Amino acid sequence: MDLVLKAMSLMKRRTTAPVRLLYGLCLMTLAGVTVPAHAAGDSHRGEDVFAQECAECHSVREGKNKKGPSLFAIVGRKAASIGDVVYSDALRQSGLTWNVASLDSYIAAPRKAVPNGKMKYDGLGDAKAREDLVAYLATLH
Ligand code: HEC
Repeated sequence: MDLVLKAMSLMKRRTTAPVRLLYGLCLMTLAGVTVPAHAAGDSHRGEDVFAQECAECHSVREGKNKKGPSLFAIVGRKAASIGDVVYSDALRQSGLTWNVASLDSYIAAPRKAVPNGKMKYDGLGDAKAREDLVAYLATLH
């Protein structure tokens, strides 16, 4: 972020405010500042889907790991990044970051998205239910 601030103060001398704002936004994007992904589904329905499909193994409370890791603040998190969870090598080496798209394909077919992973879940075929579920997961912050 230092770099961004420096670049912005350099620009201050020559540009008008709206242009600076635009440059600032571009720079922040370049610097990798992620804007939370907007999920289109219905998060209330998604909460029910979660209760039926995932709650057996996952909690949404921070720090509460069950058979599976806590899904608190899952959107935007790197895969396999909770320190005290024993993940599969496959998930640790997947290089995934959880966003709307990667969560959707993992939930649809965990074994296809992460071969040799250890989430014992067959997958959720209903695309609308997945969309709602991911919208719910996106609220967990
Ligand atoms: C039978 C237990 C079980 C069920 C049911 C289950 N999971 Fe999992 N989940 C796991 C386990 C175990 C892992 C760790 C996988 C690994 O290390 O390969 C995991 C990992 C994950 C991760 C990666 C977390 C991280 O920290 O990278 C996400 C996301 C996830 N599950 C979402 C879901 C969702 C959403 C559902 C419901 C549709 C679900 N899971 C259903 C056991 C389960």
